Amino acid sequence: MSESPPPPPSWSIASMTNNAVQWMRLPMLASSGLAVVASGLLYFKQNELIYPRNIPTDARTNVPKPRQFGIEDYEELQLRTPDGESLHAYFIRAPPKRVDQNLTVLMFHGNAGNVGHRIPIAKIMQEYLGCHVMMLEYRGYGLSTGVPDENGLKIDAQTALDHLRQRGETANTRIVVYGQSLGGAVAINLVANNEDKGGISGLILENTFLSIRKLIPSVFPPARYLARFCHQTWTSEDVLPKITKTPILFLSGLQDEIVPPSNMTQLFAICNSKRKVWRTLPNGAHNDSVAEPDYFEHIETFVTEEILKHN
Ligand SMILES: *[C@@H]1O[C@H](CO)[C@@H](O)[C@H](O)[C@H]1NC(C)=O
Ligand SMILES: *[C@@H]1O[C@H](CO)[C@@H](O)[C@H](O)[C@H]1NC(C)=O
Ligand SMILES: *[C@@H]1O[C@H](CO)[C@@H](O)[C@H](O)[C@H]1NC(C)=O
Repeated sequence: MSESPPPPPSWSIASMTNNAVQWMRLPMLASSGLAVVASGLLYFKQNELIYPRNIPTDARTNVPKPRQFGIEDYEELQLRTPDGESLHAYFIRAPPKRVDQNLTVLMFHGNAGNVGHRIPIAKIMQEYLGCHVMMLEYRGYGLSTGVPDENGLKIDAQTALDHLRQRGETANTRIVVYGQSLGGAVAINLVANNEDKGGISGLILENTFLSIRKLIPSVFPPARYLARFCHQTWTSEDVLPKITKTPILFLSGLQDEIVPPSNMTQLFAICNSKRKVWRTLPNGAHNDSVAEPDYFEHIETFVTEEILKHN
């Protein structure tokens, strides 16, 4: 029963991402049947809607392991947060020949599922960019303790960064933060809060939003009058402009049906970073942009041109 599925015989960007896409970022606020009930309960139940960590239903217990995808050199971690939570994370080592590149990608996932569902993405990053990859599972997700909320996720992100800074093999590496959807908001905050400490070498944002409050009326119409009561705000539109030095890559799926691509366009427009790069995935929807041709090529080019060639 506990036997893991055999690793895929070989991998390609297409086959691995198709595998990953299934649970990558489920619709932000779940199904319409829920909507009517939920609008009344929004104020109290919004965390369940914004952080659907029980989708799929076994997401709190069944967290795929890197080994199931043919990755051998990794550590499974439980990181302690300052407020007493224990966060599950994977640290996947760079290929031996490329360790010297001194590059680490810190991944922040979307609002559904767990880190295990994104391992195929981490594997492509690790092999293709030749980097270490840290996959953090937010509080309340997968095998992490606690209950997610905005303040908590910000603590979680900082805890992961601090861990990388203290860990021998990553302490002196360049750290690139990568966030998809909700993870983009988490990433923006972390980079903004650490820019003065010279902490982070690059930021990659995929299909993320201007703010959660703005998203509610359109994604979740019955709740539109309650949006102002939403205590989870994730105001990326206010935080992103504070980042001025860190290079930022914007990856926008033009067929995104959940977060309008115009949110990404607007984020790019208000971005004050001197080095910002805009790339689109013409056929990319909210949850499958990662499987589009050129997705990882865009990332590789950004990392090479904007990060590795500078300092
Ligand atoms: C991804 O989005 C497509 C298009 O909206 C949808 O048909 C599909 O069910 C979604 N998949 C998941 C896992 O949410
Ligand atoms: C990576 O870091 C190590 C240890 O600090 C250093 O010896 C090496 O030259 C660095 N490599 C690059 C490409 O910067
Ligand atoms: C951002 O997305 C929200 C939610 O769909 C939408 O209401 C808003 O108009 C969008 N804003 C921009 C500038 O695209």
